[in-house]
Amino acid sequence: MRISEETVEKVKRGTDITELVSSYIKLEKRGRNYVGLCPFHDEKTPSFSVSPDKQICHCFGCKKGGNVFQFYMEIENKSFAEAVRKLGKPLGIEIEAGETQEPDSDMQLIRMHEYLTDLYHHILMHTNEGQQALDYLTGRGFSADIIRKEKIGIAPDMRDFTKNALSEKGYSMELAYQAGLISRNEENFSYYDRFSGRIMIPIRNHHGYIVGYTARSLDGREPKYLNTPETPIFQKRQLLYNLSDARKDIRKQDEVILMEGHLDVVKVKMTNVRNIIGLMGTALSEENIRTLNRLASNITFMFDGDEAGQNAQISLGEQLLKSGANVYVISIPKGQDPDEFIEKRGADVFEALVKNERKHYIHFKADQLLEESLNNDMAFSNNLNVLADHLKFVKDEVTREKLLQHISDIYKIDKRSIESKVPAASGTTSARTAPAGRQLPLRERKERYFLRAMVEDRELFREFQNDIDEEVLTTPDYYVIFKGLCAYFDKQDSFDISSFSQYIDGRLFSTVVELDNILIHEDVTREEINDYLKDLSGIRNSEKEKQSLYIQLQEAENDNDIELQARLAQKLNDLNMRYKR
Ligand code: UTP
Ligand code: MN
Repeated sequence: MRISEETVEKVKRGTDITELVSSYIKLEKRGRNYVGLCPFHDEKTPSFSVSPDKQICHCFGCKKGGNVFQFYMEIENKSFAEAVRKLGKPLGIEIEAGETQEPDSDMQLIRMHEYLTDLYHHILMHTNEGQQALDYLTGRGFSADIIRKEKIGIAPDMRDFTKNALSEKGYSMELAYQAGLISRNEENFSYYDRFSGRIMIPIRNHHGYIVGYTARSLDGREPKYLNTPETPIFQKRQLLYNLSDARKDIRKQDEVILMEGHLDVVKVKMTNVRNIIGLMGTALSEENIRTLNRLASNITFMFDGDEAGQNAQISLGEQLLKSGANVYVISIPKGQDPDEFIEKRGADVFEALVKNERKHYIHFKADQLLEESLNNDMAFSNNLNVLADHLKFVKDEVTREKLLQHISDIYKIDKRSIESKVPAASGTTSARTAPAGRQLPLRERKERYFLRAMVEDRELFREFQNDIDEEVLTTPDYYVIFKGLCAYFDKQDSFDISSFSQYIDGRLFSTVVELDNILIHEDVTREEINDYLKDLSGIRNSEKEKQSLYIQLQEAENDNDIELQARLAQKLNDLNMRYKR
């Protein structure tokens, strides 16, 4: 069933493009518009622009964009119906899922997870079976509230519990296996539970759907944590734990704090620190880095206070620094992780730590490398080179100066000699990707102006609509846009680019943005439009004339009439000159 246009319009009016976009990327005000790093392609200088007046967004680089629906569809990879449903929800506009949802194999896998999560959670909270696990979690300081909020559960210590539960629900074993919820014995192809006797911590993707688990053993069984394997919906390189929940806070504070452990994140969520994300393992994928950079300018590490944690901060921090982020480290005392720190010192001390302590990555690294540098001259010089090289990624001058000073102090080397090692920043200040003032052929410019004038005035459009065909608008994209306008003005009285964008293929949106940006005089007269039309359709008439001239020329040749041939050839020549394409 289709969603009514009225509903679509209501949702569109109720959703602000700037607010929507800025929940995904950070935006800066520039004049009447906002700009930010495009979420749809890789870039270092912002070319993604949001217009609150027109309620559209548009990337001058990759040309993607549109109104709120198109933005949502693109960024979440959803259907139109899904976008209307999702954006309508906070407005209290309910559209039944059944009406809109396309058959989506991912959704089936997700539904399995949502069903099991509730089941595991229920067993943990309300049954004898779950008591031991619940005691364990409570003993570690996890409140019933947070356990409920995170829907933490327990998978019973049985071979067939999950398998049977899913099968009773009508899910095929093949599908459950695909979701990584059950395992398969490759010798006799029998299925059995992948997770049993483990605390189940649900992992959500960035839309907030549960797509997998990290499962902690309770009895020292190895491995301590067992994760969902790679599945169609659980792809580690795309996941960041707690992103869907923390996104707003991260955006608001322009900072994200990264942690190693899932339960660390859960514990920190019991404090007032909210802008936290857990990494899925010890690596950061390209996708992860892109997501983080788009969310916030500042990325802060708060890994475990052990050697592994320190080393991971050093290597991941370097990746992030080089990707353009401001990178910081908050150090957890030796031998502790954020969870243990909170248990030992309390939420207040933890919050104070987060509030007051933050070393720049280069500061942290300089301190880390100092010891090995002091008695090893080769390491000393290598390390100073590395630190100097890092400094070129620090955009803020004051920060760079301060870091230089710190390195100079602790390494006891003159500031200037370190400074002389800092390479020049690599073209981060390249020209903004503005719409290139590309020079169009005369014909195309005329067509564009003509179309632009028609967009402005529905009455004008109506009057001339029937005179326009592919020979008037010979630029194929303009003709398609014209067809879209016909449909649009059938329903709408005045042009609104945000609404109109739904009448054309997304590929053409950026052409419409260009069109919309062309300045024309306020009142284009009918005469003016007529002139344009004559000029533009002249080519069509001239084609007919040329055809007839060709035929006459042929006849003149047959008759051997040299004089007539010359006259006709001249006429043809004139026509060709006048209506050059
Ligand atoms: P830790 O051993 O420090 O675990 O491993 P933790 O987070 O403090 O867990 P608790 O507090 O004992 O419950 C750090 C991270 O390494 C990954 C997990 O992401 C874990 O949070 N890890 C660890 C695994 O993936 N598998 C393991 O077997 C162990
Ligand atoms: Mn821990």
